[in-house]
Amino acid sequence: MRAKFRPNTAIVTRMVDVTLRTARADDVPQVLALWLVAAENSSRPTDTGQAVETLIARDAEALVVADFDGVIVGTIIAGWDGWRAHLYRLAVHPDYRRQGMAMALLARAEQRLAALGATRLDAMVLDENSLGQSIWQRCGYRRQPDWSRWVKAL
Ligand SMILES: CC(C)(COP(=O)(O)OP(=O)(O)OC[C@H]1O[C@@H](n2cnc3c(N)ncnc32)[C@H](O)[C@@H]1OP(=O)(O)O)[C@@H](O)C(=O)NCCC(=O)NCCS
Repeated sequence: MRAKFRPNTAIVTRMVDVTLRTARADDVPQVLALWLVAAENSSRPTDTGQAVETLIARDAEALVVADFDGVIVGTIIAGWDGWRAHLYRLAVHPDYRRQGMAMALLARAEQRLAALGATRLDAMVLDENSLGQSIWQRCGYRRQPDWSRWVKAL
């Protein structure tokens, strides 16, 4: 799928021609490098190449990347476990933000998960991440105050 992103602010003046596609194993180093500079990294397990390769091997459609002329500038994971759908790692490189790329990645992920039978989507967002919260809000997601996340490290 080809998608053209026209700048929607005066700050960004170029047009970015980006392809949204599923990730390949040889993308893993670029994906990890992008997440270091662009993703929400606090309070979560550390990403490893092996973990991302395992994801791609288990579900080749889950990790979607925004590819700008061979450079990965955005990602989302559209996770489906056969029961529920979860979104992870929505991230856009700082140089490519405010052009609708995150919304395009999210739309692609939503399309996939709806086709698989998901009836509700969710994402974990840090309470302090107001930038991250802005996109979920913009795209129709609402905070669910009556639930807390319970975790156990393995
Ligand atoms: C959040 C993030 C993915 C947005 O990427 P993006 O490509 O710039 O987002 P888009 O251009 O598609 O913007 C979509 C909407 O998000 C909101 N938004 C995005 N950036 C914003 C900003 N700097 N200030 C306010 N609202 C913002 C707006 O509502 C925007 O819609 P609009 O352009 O119609 O106003 C990007 O800033 C990012 O990678 N942040 C760090 C990682 C992160 O926090 N990810 C979410 C974790 S849950």
